Amino acid sequence: MVGTTIFTVMSALAQQHGAVNLGQGFPDFECDPVLLDAVNSAMRAGHNQYPPMAGVPALREAVAAKIESLYGARYDPGSEITVTAGATQAIFTAILACVHPGDEVIVLEPCYDSYCPNIELAGGRVVRVPLTPRTFRPDFAAIAGALSARTRAIIVNSPHNPGATVWSAEEMDRLAALLRPTEVLLISDEVYEHMVFDGQCHASASAHPELAARAFVVSSFGKTFHVTGWKIGTVAAPAALTAEFRKVHQFNVFTVNTPMQFALASYLSDPAPYLGLSAFYQRKRDLFREGLGATRLRALPSQGTYFQCVDYSAVSDLDEAGFCRWLTTDIGVAAIPLSVFYDGGFEQRIVRLCFAKRDETLRVALDRLAKI
Ligand SMILES: Cc1ncc(COP(=O)(O)O)c(C=O)c1O
Repeated sequence: MVGTTIFTVMSALAQQHGAVNLGQGFPDFECDPVLLDAVNSAMRAGHNQYPPMAGVPALREAVAAKIESLYGARYDPGSEITVTAGATQAIFTAILACVHPGDEVIVLEPCYDSYCPNIELAGGRVVRVPLTPRTFRPDFAAIAGALSARTRAIIVNSPHNPGATVWSAEEMDRLAALLRPTEVLLISDEVYEHMVFDGQCHASASAHPELAARAFVVSSFGKTFHVTGWKIGTVAAPAALTAEFRKVHQFNVFTVNTPMQFALASYLSDPAPYLGLSAFYQRKRDLFREGLGATRLRALPSQGTYFQCVDYSAVSDLDEAGFCRWLTTDIGVAAIPLSVFYDGGFEQRIVRLCFAKRDETLRVALDRLAKI
């Protein structure tokens, strides 16, 4: 039995109580009209039937060129890039393609909510390794201790939801060193790759030849172009892994909607929108953090993503879910308890807020938060 996710529950509660919804991670502003026009043009041009199974070639070529220019890795658009129905489907398909009953998959907790059910649906066993509590940095000794002869894959997410940490190139080196003597595959969830702050660079698995050779690198256009409802992303992986991926993909979704693919292919010819995204969100992060400074919530570091974790221990003794419910119904701001990203609900008095919102929305939320 699979329950309703906390994101659905909190969004419904926010709506019921007229709360500012800083819970679920989606923007409350529109995407670039140029992108909308490109979809319209693609539909008018007749791109409305099934595309090739792996995706429209022009989009796969544009994605390969983007990865090469940013991370220096050359993926073959024909055999190494696949267009997916968002990152969630990409991750599930990668898991189904490589995890067999009895295989172990390491996940670093707290983690995105689909990973563990996906592994279990594939018949695999989830091996949970906590990130260091409160800093959410990887604990390499713990990861080393979790590796076994049955480990089939590890899932890494940087920039990290919900911790808002960004792995350094050195941490990617340490991961590579740990995996070197093994055949463990890497599922690298990089959906927030273009939201990295304070001059830090995103250390993509694709930029690390040793990791790239064993990695499914997952991206999401929904996150990058403010269109989370479009559910469209890509997976870059070496040809042998991509071949396995596509065996599942073709019977999973088979293809992904055609006009969006043509639109994204043309929109990617201008790198400015994705190259400017870190600065766009860094400004919002700074505005939000400055406002949080006037509240009794304590902001943890936010190095990337559009999330900000806050410690509320100076305000309340409620558990995280109880605090989020109270914050929504009595204060009018919806948040997500961090405990939901852990199996067994580890409690730290920390909740996650999303700042992918218009400045006015953030100001209304900050005014309300200043009252607690
Ligand atoms: C870490 C992480 N991975 C994957 C996804 C899903 O991306 P998509 O909407 O492209 O399926 C999300 C969305 O919140 C996310 O936070």
